[in-house]
Amino acid sequence: MRVLSGIQPTGNLHLGNYLGAIRNWVRMQDEMDADSQCFFFLADMHSITVHEGREQRIRNVRDMAAALVAAGVDPDRSVLFNQARVPAHAELCWLLNGTARIGWLNRMTQFKDKAGKDREGASVGLFVYPVLQAADILAYNATHVPVGEDQKQHLELARDIATKFNTDFGVDLFTLPAPIIPKESARIMSLRDGTAKMSKSDPSDLSRINLTDDDDAIMAKVKKAKSDQEMLPETAEGLAGRAEAGNLVGIMATMTNRTTDAVCAEFAGKGFGAFKPALGEVLVETLRPIRERFLELRTDDAALDAILDKGAAKAAAAAEPTLRAAYDAMGLMR
Ligand code: TYM
Repeated sequence: MRVLSGIQPTGNLHLGNYLGAIRNWVRMQDEMDADSQCFFFLADMHSITVHEGREQRIRNVRDMAAALVAAGVDPDRSVLFNQARVPAHAELCWLLNGTARIGWLNRMTQFKDKAGKDREGASVGLFVYPVLQAADILAYNATHVPVGEDQKQHLELARDIATKFNTDFGVDLFTLPAPIIPKESARIMSLRDGTAKMSKSDPSDLSRINLTDDDDAIMAKVKKAKSDQEMLPETAEGLAGRAEAGNLVGIMATMTNRTTDAVCAEFAGKGFGAFKPALGEVLVETLRPIRERFLELRTDDAALDAILDKGAAKAAAAAEPTLRAAYDAMGLMR
């Protein structure tokens, strides 16, 4: 079993990232046996699709590395690195650009969402973003990729690219990766709008809970979260058509490792005036130790850089045989 996943180091780690992906990364790392390996990385090469100054980008990578370690990624057990330190990602991406089809990329919903109306003005990087993501995964022959629901289509593309490359060049080189998507928290929604996913690019900071928010900020955001005037139902069925209510109950269920039915049973007949402080309390207590550890780790740039350097050396060694075999399969001698 080879587990691999990545996160863009832009903005803060938020509750959606944590519940949709990072918590699963840590669980998979903790349950790993001697034959398995976990690779977790900061997708800084992907982040070039968002304009940022040099200093900011450097800070972002260290911030996200610290956040992941604080959230439980253990650099002694998992390989933790940033893409830019491992050129195999960019190299394999270029090779796979010969395999990926424009029609496939045209169907990617994230490109459509992110490019918005001005498609012609979007960067080429944004368009080929999913090919780099395929390279990230295929370079390591990852078998399991823990992600949130929004990455499902990118994973399918990675499988298509792997299959076509193997077929076109008559090799059995790339492994088809399986997405690991949590049932309850695959898509955590914005606290301001139950139809939009929680995201670091939402201009309203009230829409998300950041792992760096202090206790008061977390409680205030939960209390201001959009909900409705109805009471909580006896079972999850009663949340149908109530996007904001469903999201808040879903967050509570995930945070406390219960089903939404169990949470409904506890709060049935009560309003959000009673539910929100309880949810706020759970979030505050769970996130406080992560934030404290983050702030501690963030005081030592050199230690964070050393973690990423060490991880990158291991990652480069793991990717090298596949990269070499891909060049060779294509008759590119290096
Ligand atoms: P990114 O940085 O947008 O998000 C990181 C992870 O968090 C999940 N996520 C969510 N899950 C549930 N609810 C939400 N509201 C929510 N928002 C984000 C994402 O699904 C993701 O798992 N393209 C990727 C990074 C990437 C990658 C890879 C992932 C690059 N190469 C290879 C896996 C394998 C991205 O932008 O994730």
